[in-house]
Amino acid sequence: MEHLLIKGKNRLNGDVFISGAKNAVVAIIPAAIIANGVCIIDNLPSIEDVRCLQDTLSKLGAVCELIDEGTLMVDSSNLNNFNATFDSVRRIRASYYLMGALLARFKEAKVALPGGCNFGTRPIDLHLKAFKALGAEIEEDYDSGIISLKAEKLVGTNIFLDTVSVGATINTMLAATLAEGVTTIENAAKEPHIVDTANFLNMLGAKIKGAGTDVIRITGVESLHGAEYMIIPDQIEAGTYMIAAAVCGGNVSVRNIIPKHMDSLSAKLKEMGCKVVEGDDYIDVISDGKLSSTRVKTMAYPGFPTDLQPQMVAGLSKADGISILTETVWENRFQYIDQLKKFGCDISIDGRVAIIHGVSQLHGADVMATDLRAGAAMVIAGLASNGITKIGNVRFIDRGYEKIEYKLRNLGADIKRVKE
Ligand code: UD1
Repeated sequence: MEHLLIKGKNRLNGDVFISGAKNAVVAIIPAAIIANGVCIIDNLPSIEDVRCLQDTLSKLGAVCELIDEGTLMVDSSNLNNFNATFDSVRRIRASYYLMGALLARFKEAKVALPGGCNFGTRPIDLHLKAFKALGAEIEEDYDSGIISLKAEKLVGTNIFLDTVSVGATINTMLAATLAEGVTTIENAAKEPHIVDTANFLNMLGAKIKGAGTDVIRITGVESLHGAEYMIIPDQIEAGTYMIAAAVCGGNVSVRNIIPKHMDSLSAKLKEMGCKVVEGDDYIDVISDGKLSSTRVKTMAYPGFPTDLQPQMVAGLSKADGISILTETVWENRFQYIDQLKKFGCDISIDGRVAIIHGVSQLHGADVMATDLRAGAAMVIAGLASNGITKIGNVRFIDRGYEKIEYKLRNLGADIKRVKE
């Protein structure tokens, strides 16, 4: 059993280098299944979700190995199994991308239902509707938790997504890559990792246009070849360190990022009283630790990301005045609030709205990470608190943050991992 132990109240100063984007790599590794050739994926984050997918692809018959620190080689030439029903598949939410990728390659797939963070119902009806529209027949077996897909052939069509969904947008792109004719996705999501996955597929020979807008057009091609590709930096990891710097005070340079991806957060931090300076591939956050309250509403990109919502709630807990945060993406993403209250945070929930009364001082607490980003929020609360914080369930945090304690120690935080 591992814990993070934090002695709070240190200011944060220095450079932090951001890893490759989790939500891009969890789509790009499955996408490599479609290629007839060797894919080299650079800027790979060293996180649990990646290790889980490596294990999954290896079990499916691909060669999926680290050839250097941060570089993964995926050779799917001999991948011969479309039954992705083993345990590693259930451990991460993004396993749903195996459906689109295996369907594109074999016109058949059996995939275990997705696991991952639990913040309310996480339906995949839009993914399935899109596969169906492309020509797949689908069987959902809820006793075994397995979804089976089969198509004589996949044929391009117009798909309008009822809800803006990252997963459904990417999964449709994957399935349509080798389909006959043109597929149009309307009301597509625009997140940076959608553009990254489309860029990766295009490097492999796909013909995808419009990623990053709400209409994406995919012209089916015969086959994909191998290529080398560099994953974009992680918007959410970067945002987590930006919020930590704002709350703890100090001068932190968040490096190796795409500042444009951070616009919604940068604007909020400025509003809250921080100095935010953008460079070509970095953002400096300069803060005296005194923040003012604000209103935040989570939205699809380019709005404020729901995946920074818990970290922002932790930050606003120390802001002067009353802040209002509205969660519009997930129906139940405030389950972690009880843990934050142990730090002395004064938060009440009304449906999808959190009302946060800023307090001048938080105190260390003994808490459990309830999911990945909630765990990050507890790290931020611990860093900003008087006294000692102990965070359990670190495995959640490890799903998406590479070497978190090492990166924070480099900034001057007093944080260590302990085994019990
Ligand atoms: C992805 C991210 C996750 C992030 C979320 C929203 C990955 C691996 N995960 O999750 O970290 O919190 O985007 O930015 O990239 N919906 C449906 N039917 C569907 C699919 C989604 O109704 O078939 C709804 C969901 O309930 C939710 C909304 O659409 O309310 C957005 O979900 P979606 O963008 O699909 O999230 P994920 O792709 O699962």
